Amino acid sequence: MHLACSECGAAADLDTLFCDACGGLLAFELDPAAFDAAQLRQTFSERRRTNDALDQSGVWRFRELLPARAPADVVTLRENAVPLYDARAGADYASATRVAYLHLGMNPTASFKDAGMTAAMSHAKARGARVAVCASTGNTAASMAAYAARAGITALVLVPAGGISEAKMAQTLDYGATVAAIDGDFDRALEVVRALDPARVAIVNSVNPYRIEGQKCAAFALLEARDWRAPDWLILPGGNLGNSSAFGKGFREAFALGLIDRLPRIAVVQAAGAAPFARLFRDGGDLVPVRAHTTATAIKIGAPASWRKALGEVRASGGTVLDVSDDEIADARAIVGRDGVGCEPASAASLAGLRALRANGTVGSDDDVVLVLTGHVLKDGAYAAAYHTSGARFANKIHPTPSDESLRALIDEVTAVRA
Ligand code: F0G
Repeated sequence: MHLACSECGAAADLDTLFCDACGGLLAFELDPAAFDAAQLRQTFSERRRTNDALDQSGVWRFRELLPARAPADVVTLRENAVPLYDARAGADYASATRVAYLHLGMNPTASFKDAGMTAAMSHAKARGARVAVCASTGNTAASMAAYAARAGITALVLVPAGGISEAKMAQTLDYGATVAAIDGDFDRALEVVRALDPARVAIVNSVNPYRIEGQKCAAFALLEARDWRAPDWLILPGGNLGNSSAFGKGFREAFALGLIDRLPRIAVVQAAGAAPFARLFRDGGDLVPVRAHTTATAIKIGAPASWRKALGEVRASGGTVLDVSDDEIADARAIVGRDGVGCEPASAASLAGLRALRANGTVGSDDDVVLVLTGHVLKDGAYAAAYHTSGARFANKIHPTPSDESLRALIDEVTAVRA
């Protein structure tokens, strides 16, 4: 595999982060002619039966399709070995019939970031980096902190003060990172990080092409779990747009390799107050940054770094971009809970997006749909608790300190309903 600029095509050195010629984001390129699809399928499948740490990782199991790495340098927590669940309540809610959740919240640090972080941190270790840095709305921070701890690398994260959930902050501190809670939003934090010298510190935001290589493996794992049958649609939340770029790249490579016979359409869903990419998709032109507002803090991003890559992927897939309100996200999140699955607020943008795409006819009632859940329900307990005391549509009430008599009445009521 070789590294080149995703914008001007210039070849790039393996340790750089941005194109020397034009400043664009870099991307790895794979030569599909070098592989045999049947052989790859068999190799990937056989690795699922071994106890080797690399084989148990849903990233390194696909290592032929990744930048080469010596096993001794791999930093893994067995990431991206994630379930695909059928989504009955979600399907009903969206008036659809064939819907599944790809639950990337079932990762070691409980978000999809781990799939990319194993690749980025392994590269950092291999090149002898001593410090890793990122800007984050919380999940990248937690993931980086964990993988840096495993690698013996010092971790420094920049987060918006008061802008990340308590659980994400707690994880990040537990894993030993130094946290700078800056007076500014995510976009400001990323600006500061991008200005650092990549020769001195490993910058592991999704502008790092190794992150994208790891995250594209979520597309491979999904397709493999479906016996290499492509869905009609993949719907996912969009913030900085690294993940949309990664899924698009993974699907394109799987198609070019002959692992699947068509490309899934990709729908990217943004929160209405943080939707510069949805506006760009509608109106054309270049991305116009916004000052982001949304209660889905993970995707509170106004100047997404990977918009050009993501736009290319959405267009190549015949997909779309839309936005949904915070209330729609909140209700959709409660419905994901009713499936016995659960997710954090940003993740539920995918179900809210499906509902909107069914309502306007973009997605058909029989279409085969995969919703990406990017983070675990326990990532933001305060948000969930607030929803259930808000009187919102799908709120579930607590009966506070009932007397013995009213407790008996409640038991009678509930058991009567269940009988
Ligand atoms: N969902 C969750 C739970 C996230 O944490 C993020 C991004 C996204 C979706 C959007 O993914 O940025 O690749 O488009 N979180 C980053 C962070 C920004 O710092 O944790 P994206």
